[in-house]
Amino acid sequence: MKTLVILAHPNIKNSRVNQRWKQELLRYSNEITIHEIYKEYPNWNIDVLKEQKLLEVHSNIIFQFPLYWYSYPPLLKKWFDDVFAHGWAYGSKGDKLKGKKLGIAMSIGDKKENYLSTGSVTFTVDEVIAPFKASAVHVGAVTLPYFAVFGASFQASDEDINQSAKDYIKYIFQHK
Ligand SMILES: Cc1cc2nc3c(=O)[nH]c(=O)nc-3n(C[C@H](O)[C@H](O)[C@H](O)COP(=O)(O)O)c2cc1C
Repeated sequence: MKTLVILAHPNIKNSRVNQRWKQELLRYSNEITIHEIYKEYPNWNIDVLKEQKLLEVHSNIIFQFPLYWYSYPPLLKKWFDDVFAHGWAYGSKGDKLKGKKLGIAMSIGDKKENYLSTGSVTFTVDEVIAPFKASAVHVGAVTLPYFAVFGASFQASDEDINQSAKDYIKYIFQHK
């Protein structure tokens, strides 16, 4: 079964990391489905049934996005609000995500060493993504370890980003 990548970047044309990752994902189109929500929903009117059906036919789902204000880009947050609905994702009859594997692949502007309790961010990445992990628990899904590239704003070289694209594919296949 193919892995579904929900890609949320508000401006992919100006992206270095997510653009490069997308290019790498496209080389594996037999194994990976890419769903770009900012392209699909320029007016933010999310077709909830369509999204739910897409999730239903995949058991491994990765959310790929740049970290903005220690969180998702806003359309992805809306996507969760709309798509992970009561009676479908949770509640007494909502079990459609139960047992599915959910992961996060993020580009992070700041340096890795800053994402520590003793660093300038004062939180680890695992702490930053707690809302995602709690959401996965709430819908009975399994959370995969996150995948990230750090220094995405300035420090990461083209070579680092190329390497991260290869590592991202490995991460996806490792968690199939
Ligand atoms: C609105 C906005 C908010 C951001 N917030 C954060 C942040 O909270 N933490 C961080 O490390 N980087 C932050 N960044 C930097 C982005 O994570 C970085 O630009 C992005 O990961 C680069 O990926 P791209 O080349 O695919 O666009 C922010 C950037 C923008 C534009």
